[in-house]
Amino acid sequence: MLDPGQILVGLEIGTSKICVAVGEVAESGELTITGFGQARSRGVLKGEVIDLDKAAEDVREALAQAEDMADVEIEAVYLAVSGNHIRALNNRGVHSIPTVDREITVDDVQEALRNAKGNNCPAGYEIVDSVRQDFCVDYHSVYDNPVGIVGSRIEASVHVIQGSSRRIEMSRRAVEGPTPVRVEKAVFSGLASALAVLTSEQKDLGALVLDVGGGTTEFALFQKGLLRHSGVLAVGGDHVSNDLSLGLDIPLSLAEELKISLGSAVSEPGERATFHTIPGTQGLPERRISLSHLRRIMSLRWEETLEFVARELAETQWLRQARAGVFLCGGSARTQGLDALVRRVFQLPVARGQVQNVSGPTEVLENPEFATAIGLVRYGAMRSERRPRRWSFPLLGVLSPRLRRKN
Ligand SMILES: Nc1ncnc2c1ncn2[C@@H]1O[C@H](COP(=O)(O)OP(=O)(O)OP(=O)(O)O)[C@@H](O)[C@H]1O
Ligand SMILES: [Mg+2]
Repeated sequence: MLDPGQILVGLEIGTSKICVAVGEVAESGELTITGFGQARSRGVLKGEVIDLDKAAEDVREALAQAEDMADVEIEAVYLAVSGNHIRALNNRGVHSIPTVDREITVDDVQEALRNAKGNNCPAGYEIVDSVRQDFCVDYHSVYDNPVGIVGSRIEASVHVIQGSSRRIEMSRRAVEGPTPVRVEKAVFSGLASALAVLTSEQKDLGALVLDVGGGTTEFALFQKGLLRHSGVLAVGGDHVSNDLSLGLDIPLSLAEELKISLGSAVSEPGERATFHTIPGTQGLPERRISLSHLRRIMSLRWEETLEFVARELAETQWLRQARAGVFLCGGSARTQGLDALVRRVFQLPVARGQVQNVSGPTEVLENPEFATAIGLVRYGAMRSERRPRRWSFPLLGVLSPRLRRKN
């Protein structure tokens, strides 16, 4: 059960914008977004803080806006982390039960999970999130709760998301340095976005969430209710704008504008004869650019990005089984034709990810850019659940550092 009256705050220091969502848990357990703040982002490149002073200033601005709107003083936040340094892997850990054929206890399971979690963490890296997957008892698969089963060997598999401690520290300092605000926990932004837009049914059926932002594309793949694979590609909508700027020989600001007003992730043959006139600016003469050329540049970049993600996921058995389909969020999810391209590359149904089971201002909930911040609020709520609905923890065990006992 969620803790009524609790205030939870999510903060994303994105490449294009900083945003803060303040959420409150109602008596019914429903989450309501009561405050929201958004600021420009000047100190972030490809999802990583590179200019601490500028990032800190922008974070302060977004926090102040959210505090005003929610009429609260923010003390702690769940902080999204992303970037090229994020590594995700599926680890296994084994725990042998010393006494022959006794029932498996919570402590045994915890030990197996700990062993799985701690494997393969290189120096300078830390565990950002770890999500339990399946168990085997004496080499037999046990999907759910292995406690109480008689056995002598328990094997746990865990999806582990690691990140560079230095990179995470930079994000943390942008929050904690100049403000009295504490980072409650760093959370992988792809996981947060997935928590915002997927229902339990979709996670059970199998679903992929793609958060296509400004400097990164994060992905999180669920099957049978559990996170099976995730990751980040440090490529997003800003790279598309950059390609347009170079390919059409126009300033970056104009490229960004044209991407939004005329762009598409797919190019159609009929566009060949369509031209668009750009007025002369910054000493440059008026020019005509071909719509087909503009869209071709965009489609090449998006196709390459999506194929990279699809290749990585194809190595798992789970992608083809994602029967609920692909859910798109992040600002670049607004790109015309991106859904069609995703459908073609992944060969799965595609939809815009909608925030699920959260109330609040429509303009916040319906904005694909805000899925991460809202998902962080949900993450916080799940993590601080006082009593689990059931002992086993598809996702929760993961979110809570402790394994909870059966009531
Ligand atoms: N209508 C639109 N069409 C195409 N792209 C758009 C549109 N609106 C916004 N974008 C793009 O969305 C991107 C910003 O998305 P978002 O706010 O999700 O990024 P971010 O969270 O700040 O960055 P990241 O998560 O990658 O660090 C920019 O590249 C912007 O150009
Ligand atoms: Mg983002």
